Amino acid sequence: MRRTIRRPSTLRGEVHLPGDKSISHRAVILNSIAHGDARIRNFSWSQDCRATIACLKALGMRADVGGSGEVTIQGVGGDGLKEAEDVLNAGNSGTTMRLLTGLLASRPFLSIITGDDSLRSRPMGRIIEPLRLMGGQVWGRGGDSRAPLVIRGGNLRGVRYVLPVASAQLKSALLLAGLSAEGETVVVEPMPSRDHTERLLGAMGARIEVDGDTIKLSPGSLRAVDVDVPGDISAAAFWLVAGVLHNEAKITIRGVGLNPTRSGVIDVLQSMGADLRVENNRVVGGEPIGDLQVESSSLTGVEIGGEVIPRMIDEIPLIALCGAMARGKTVIRDAQELRVKESDRISTTTVELSRMGVRVEELPDGMVVHGGERVLGGEFDSHGDHRLAMMLGVAGLIADGETTIDNAEVADVSYSEFWSDLEQISAN
Ligand code: S3P
Repeated sequence: MRRTIRRPSTLRGEVHLPGDKSISHRAVILNSIAHGDARIRNFSWSQDCRATIACLKALGMRADVGGSGEVTIQGVGGDGLKEAEDVLNAGNSGTTMRLLTGLLASRPFLSIITGDDSLRSRPMGRIIEPLRLMGGQVWGRGGDSRAPLVIRGGNLRGVRYVLPVASAQLKSALLLAGLSAEGETVVVEPMPSRDHTERLLGAMGARIEVDGDTIKLSPGSLRAVDVDVPGDISAAAFWLVAGVLHNEAKITIRGVGLNPTRSGVIDVLQSMGADLRVENNRVVGGEPIGDLQVESSSLTGVEIGGEVIPRMIDEIPLIALCGAMARGKTVIRDAQELRVKESDRISTTTVELSRMGVRVEELPDGMVVHGGERVLGGEFDSHGDHRLAMMLGVAGLIADGETTIDNAEVADVSYSEFWSDLEQISAN
């Protein structure tokens, strides 16, 4: 699908966000092996989360995913999942593949999990290695580095493992394995990454302790818990950036998840001079949320690196776009993980921004973006990456001339209503 966008004269109104994708995955996975029933409201109906539901159903999850937008799960308990009849397919979703591999490593049956071209090229050795230290039997293509993965579930033992990268997917895979291992599992993070798994495990009665960079989990069973999924801050980020960069904009977004391990994009936008206000802070279901108001702003370039990077890892292409419209230079470092996302986002962001007339240099772990007055329309490609497609859509809202994006349908991977929301705020 091709999408063509022209800069609207104003951007106004309120956007209704999809539920947070990371929390939706975890709410379904953890409740599927809990005791009792759970209702998950505002579930993310993204392709990624639909893949998690399909895999879990193939493994015997009992769930009602009927019309209302809600998912109701009747937990089958820790021993209730069964061998799937076929290969599990995680589609484009790294979270589905990594978290389910952790879960399945202790289940007494064989599982095979695959994904699309992009997911089959992404690093899986990072989960295979620690799962093997726990006694798990997991194999993959490419010398046990890539999917499809074969998992012969069996007895695991808890280990202490220092993560080589700040990855919430890796951390969560090990915690899911640790839930059914013998003895304590200790995970040490190099930097804080999103902690939704830890929060939900705590709310479901797991014996989990978090002390600074160290997470300790003892095996045990979970009790089902209802989850009100907050709005996805990674989806909100597209409208925050559109609002900041467009010169006649005022956008409101309510009920946005503001977990500090996710809200780096707000900190960075504010440090660039964004007129971005957070209001009505509250806590829902153990996660902080709030309402956001954003207006046209003039930005100044920034240098970002270190601990903020994992807190905004999915929003970096958007910050690069902000850099293109900011005064001065924006330098992004310590973001080498972007090279192993749905596309090599350092390279694909650099290529597409250059096509927009932006002066941008690729670094091994980031990029340098030289700010200017404007970006130019033209023909662009999503590279099959949902976040690239949507960043280019936002660029189209501020670019001179017409912006056409090829393979724009991939937005559905995380944000099914993205293109209709874009039309709606453009039309107001
Ligand atoms: C996610 C973690 C991040 C993020 C991804 C979702 C999660 O990946 O990029 O979109 O739900 O745990 P890593 O954990 O590999 O950094």
